[in-house]
Amino acid sequence: MKGVVFTEFLKMVEEAHGLDMVDTIIEKSDLPSGGAYTAVGTYDHTEAVALVSSLSTETGASVGGLLKAFGEYLFNTLAGAYPQFVEGSANELDFLEKVESYIHVEVRKLYPDAELPSFECSRPNSPDELHMVYQSSRHFEDLCEGLIIGSLKHFKSSATIQRTKLENGRELFIIKR
Ligand code: HEM
Repeated sequence: MKGVVFTEFLKMVEEAHGLDMVDTIIEKSDLPSGGAYTAVGTYDHTEAVALVSSLSTETGASVGGLLKAFGEYLFNTLAGAYPQFVEGSANELDFLEKVESYIHVEVRKLYPDAELPSFECSRPNSPDELHMVYQSSRHFEDLCEGLIIGSLKHFKSSATIQRTKLENGRELFIIKR
């Protein structure tokens, strides 16, 4: 996982709980990297899981809730860093559909070692209902929901998100406007 994901996570923790909490969760997570992340480095995604689970222990908040909150936060960072990917979509569903067909394709060109999920997108029932089937060996479904929530807020959308587990560890997100 790219270092930027870690530096943004620790920034969110610092903003919400202060630097002491950042030090505490780094210490308690027993990280191979020691918690010294650079934005361009690449680190094992299990370090992110360890940090979130330590934060959960320290704060009492659920791991899923923390990952969702972080997804929203991360969306705002990514949208700020890469405005060209967010501009030019007519609406939230067109944007979300482009994550697989365009945005992550471009991300892969910039960072060949990026660990990206795959999405199968379709609109089987109506143009106002996007189905996204998420698949990733990292199982960041909650982070994914947070990124979708962040996208909807960015587009000032009141669309709803429905989640369903599928076979083979995949997850279906239905976004309805
Ligand atoms: C401006 C928009 C976006 C940019 C530039 C972007 C870029 C990235 C980058 C750099 C990573 C980290 C890869 C790594 O650590 O190796 C990532 C991961 C991820 N992205 Fe995006 N992304 C964007 C929007 C979205 C949206 C809207 C979603 C949800 C529909 C999404 C879903 C994910 C997920 C779930 C991961 C975690 C990796 C995994 O699950 O395997 N991204 N993305």
